[in-house]
This record gives sequence, structure tokens and C-alpha cells, in this order.
Amino acid sequence: MLKKLFQRKNRETTVVLMNESKLYKPSAATLKNATVLNTEAVYKDALKNPVKYWEEAARELEWYLPWKKAFSEPKKHFFNWFVGGKCNIVHNALDRHMGTPTEKKTAIIWESDHGKRRKLTYKELKSAVCKMANGLKSLGIKKGDRVAIYMQNTPEIAISMLACAKIGAMHSVVYAGFSAHALRDRIDDAKAKILITSDVGYRSGKHIDMYSLCNEAVKGAKSIKHMVVVKREESTRKKNAKRDVWYHELVEGQSEICKTTVMDSEDPLFVLYTSGTTSKPKGIIHVHGGYMVGINRTFHWVMDVKPNDVYWCSADPGWITGHSYIIYAPLMAGITTVMFEGAPNYPKPDRLWKVIEKNKVSIFYTAPTLIRSLMRFGDEWVEKHDLSSLRLLGSVGEPINPEAWRWYHKVVVKGKLPIMDTWWQTETGSFMIAPLPATTLKAGSATRPLPGIIADVVDKRGKSVRRGEGGYLVIKNPWPSMLRGVFNNPERYLKTYWKEIPGYYLTGDLAHKDKDGYFWIQGRSDDVLSIAGHRIGTAEIESALVSHPAAAEAAVIGKPHPVKGESAKAFVILKQGYEPSEKLVDALKKQIRKELGPIAVTDEVEFVDKLPKTQRKDYAASFKGKGARPGRRGYVGARRLNHLQNTQLNG
Ligand code: WTA
Repeated sequence: MLKKLFQRKNRETTVVLMNESKLYKPSAATLKNATVLNTEAVYKDALKNPVKYWEEAARELEWYLPWKKAFSEPKKHFFNWFVGGKCNIVHNALDRHMGTPTEKKTAIIWESDHGKRRKLTYKELKSAVCKMANGLKSLGIKKGDRVAIYMQNTPEIAISMLACAKIGAMHSVVYAGFSAHALRDRIDDAKAKILITSDVGYRSGKHIDMYSLCNEAVKGAKSIKHMVVVKREESTRKKNAKRDVWYHELVEGQSEICKTTVMDSEDPLFVLYTSGTTSKPKGIIHVHGGYMVGINRTFHWVMDVKPNDVYWCSADPGWITGHSYIIYAPLMAGITTVMFEGAPNYPKPDRLWKVIEKNKVSIFYTAPTLIRSLMRFGDEWVEKHDLSSLRLLGSVGEPINPEAWRWYHKVVVKGKLPIMDTWWQTETGSFMIAPLPATTLKAGSATRPLPGIIADVVDKRGKSVRRGEGGYLVIKNPWPSMLRGVFNNPERYLKTYWKEIPGYYLTGDLAHKDKDGYFWIQGRSDDVLSIAGHRIGTAEIESALVSHPAAAEAAVIGKPHPVKGESAKAFVILKQGYEPSEKLVDALKKQIRKELGPIAVTDEVEFVDKLPKTQRKDYAASFKGKGARPGRRGYVGARRLNHLQNTQLNG
């Protein structure tokens, strides 16, 4: 019975999505601007020889020394691009603009939570980066060292990241919504020598004590030698005299010149932690050469960048979207990038539209959660503002439901502008499935794999499924900006991405292709949730819960949420001697907040006697892509439990 209901539900989902078949053709104005017009020929050419395609893309950037070989696989599933090439992403993001008209252009427009604005030209940014790079050197940072950064969306986060890259150190940015525990885990794993932070941060008018949180995080973190603190308020705060350095004192008196370190294409640029199916996050490694090529080409082609664009990506630099498309790609393109510290509805629900109007933003890239949350306030907040500077929109992080897509399209840009729905991951480094401006769009589909990328939907054995059928989303060819591994854990890299469906990169997402070959992302196939676009592993939340003395066992599932896309619900078995109560629910939520941070806190906690056991066989048989994975520890995995629960409820 359950199996039947499940099948029906699954089929319905597919049909509903495929009904969304209205086509949105590009306008004459969009076509006039589009960098790539002859799209079909470009796709065909790239498909014939993806390596050649990427080599051509690499030639758009400057190299200290050209590569000898475009691509190699020195060890199975470990790939190298632009072998023998010498480069540094910072040379392309900053150095090469010096002495050109771009040096006088605004590189960063920053707006704080309170509405304070600061602008930095490319020249000013370069000198700030050099000073910080020299400062880091004076603290003993060398090529290959890891530097942790935990900061709000401020110019100093960009300066610090670029300073690390300039001298060949790896940055490890930790999203500033994570807890002290989560920060410590990431510092320990990367063995970071320095933590860069600020004394306070601001969000929605609230004051966040960053220093105390970092102080707690680095207590016992053996690798940390120094904490560099940006002073944002006049405080008499006592600091640890031996360990702490004020940012402004560190850069004061440093030279504005710092030679950019010549890196090998395959030298690491950064590590960025992301959630997986275990309680320990994975440190995803990206390198200088391939990463800069991937983000540069995709940014130019998908976002259709022109020299005078003012571009705003409303993500946080603590996620891959911020790394690739707030900082590195826009700076390589020599355009103006907006950094915004505040919240979209503070002080009023039109803050976001105000920022666009005030800064004459021409390209706006955001997440479906944000669109849904602003939709709720009504059209009048949008209509109060002149948004005529906009010429292109983007979306990322989770499937954009057709209703939100249409609102974004109709209310925000009066049906005139295209929306680039970009599917990609921390691991992919750059956009993978996304339209080009000249592409005909369908609301809710990221359309097709970009040139140079071969993606498919397959079953467990790696066989392509029929159009309209669900299955595993895989990438069939290596690409330059792909991850180079999991920090200090090659086995996990191989197991997660290459062993499940041999020969292909496993994305962890479920998808289907429609009759036109358009891809529709249906969510994750593993136990990773996307809460308001933030990637959180259910195993991480479960582990946080059982660290509370009252919790014996826990299972966390994702539930559909009208605004956040997904929310977490926890089932908890209590230890003997503990009774269910509202107080205990609060205590468990607090525990999650303490272990992981506010972004991971579950909406619901339910006390149960037994956790649901896996019904693996039934589930696997009922899944159209024939690919359910064994449940962890014998419990039903989050995604599956979610489906089962909904099925039961609906049935
Ligand atoms: C999801 C964010 C549907 C997907 C760049 C992926 C999306 C995960 C989209 C990666 C999209 C991202 N449509 N789903 N346009 N973009 N996702 O690593 O499940 O934070 O695997 O990278 O977000 O999340 P991550």
C-alpha cells in the first residue's frame, strides 16, 4: 500500500514539474546584449572537444607561464588542468587591472547593516590587499599555510581572502552564522595558523559579539598562533596580548607593494567546508588555475557581464557562491561588485530594492528563499522603487519554484528580463547547469548543462534514464573548476563522488530531463538538507542533539517549508529518567545552536520511543531512478523518511 502511494506521489511530482512548460523567449534587448548568440553551434563545438573549449577559456586570462598540457589524470579520479602553467588568481583579479582605466573604477561598494557605505577603487583594493598580505607574512604565514576567516560580509573579508591568495596561503572561510564549536572543528581540521575576525558584527540592527565567539572557538585549537581582529567599534575590550592583533595595527605601516606569489596551476587556493552525509563536514579544495578559468568563463557567459555593470550577489562570502561570484569572478571581470552586510527586510521589507535603486545595480543574483520571503510582504514594497537599472537576474542554491520564479520575473522586472537559474555546488566551483541569456527559459528549470559540461540523469548502474524519469544527476566529464579533493581525506573524496556510480562524478542530487533536454532538479538523494539555501547534513544535527545529556538517539528529516524551501524536524529518544517537555525541546534546540549555530536549529522536535527503521528494499524498489541508498545506521534517511511521511500523511 505504502509502496503504491509512494509511487503515485513520485509520479505526480514529475508530472507537475513537467506541466510548467510555458516558454520564455529572450527579448530583443537581451539578445542585443548577449555575449554568446550562436548558442547551438557553441554547445555542439564544446561537446566535440571539451578540453579544447576550456583551453580557449583559459586564454582569456593572464598566465605567468603557459601550461604544457591542458588536462591529465595522474591518478584515477584525481584530475589536473593546465599542467605546468604558472599563475595566481589575484594577478587576474587585481594586478592586471593596474595601469589600465579599471584601476580607477569602483571595485567594491559596501553597505553595512546600518546603511553606512564605503567604496574601494581597484587601486585602493589592491593596496589594501598588499598591506594585509605583508601583515600576514609578518605573522609568519607562508605559501601553503591555512588561514581561517570568520567575518560578516564586509570589505575586510574580501581583502583577507585576496591577501591569503596573493601570498599562496589557503583561506578557509567559515560562514559567520556557525557556532564556536563548528568554527573550532573547521580550524582543527585545516590546522589553521591564524583566525581573522572582527570584534563585533551587525545584523538586523543587532550586535553580534564575534570576538567572544572566536575566543571560545580558538581555546584549545592548538594550531592557532594569532587572532587578527578588525575593530568595528570603539571598545575598551581586553584582548589576549600574546595572541591577538588588531587588524588596523597589523596593516599600519606595511608596504603597499607585495609581490604576488607565482603559483602552479594545481596549487591550492582555498578550502571550504561543506556538509555531507556524516557528522563531519568536508573540506573541499579548489586550486588557482582551473578554478579561475571556470568561474571567469561562466560568469562572463551566463551573467553576460559588460564593463560598466554594477553587480550584486546577495549571498554571503562564507559560502561558495560568495567566493566565486561576489569576490573572485567579478573582480577578474573588472566590474563593480556590491557587498551588503544587512538583512533584506531590515529596517523595512524594501531594503533590498533600495540597495538596487541606490547603487543602480544592473545584475542581481540571489536565492529562491529570499525571493519567497520578500514575496510575502506584497508587491507594493517593490513597486515603490525604480529598478530600471536591472538588466539580468540570477538565482542559486535550491530549486526555484515556478510561483517564485514568475513573481521575480513579473513583479520585479515587469516580465522583461531573463532569470539565470544556476545549478552548481561547492564542489563544482562554478555554474554547471544554467542558461545563457539567449536561451529560451522555463520557470523552475536550470535549463541545460553549460558548454564544456556533460551532465546526465542516470540510474544506479550509470545508465541514462528515459526523458521524464527521475534519477541521479551526474557529470560525465572532468571540468577545470572541479574540486581537487577533500582536505586530508582522499578516501572520502573517492567514496563520496566517484565510487557510487563508477566513472561519473556523483552530485548527490536527483533530477529529470524533460522532452527538450531541460534539467529539473528535484532535491538531494542523500541526507543533506537545504535550509534557506544553506547546506546542512542531517547527521550533523543528529550528532549535535545526542551531545545533550537527555538525548539517547536522534533522527532528523527535512520537511518542505513555504519560505525556507526546507526545514528540519528531529525525532528524539530520551534517556531513562528524562520526560518530554517544552523545556526540553528548548534545551535541545539550544544545544543545536551551541554545536552548529542558528542556521541549523530544527523547527520541530518530537519525542518518540522508537526511531523509524529503514525500509530500504521497499523504498529502493519504489524509487523510479532505482537508486535509494542504504539508510545510515539502519534508520530511514532524512530524504526517504520525508517522502514516506508525506506519503502517509497525504494517503
Ligand atoms: C542545490 C551552492 C536547484 C543542489 C552553489 C546542490 C540547486 C546544492 C541549485 C549545492 C539550483 C544549488 N537549483 N538546486 N539552481 N543550486 N542547488 O554546495 O542540491 O552550497 O547540490 O552550493 O544546492 O549547495 P552548495
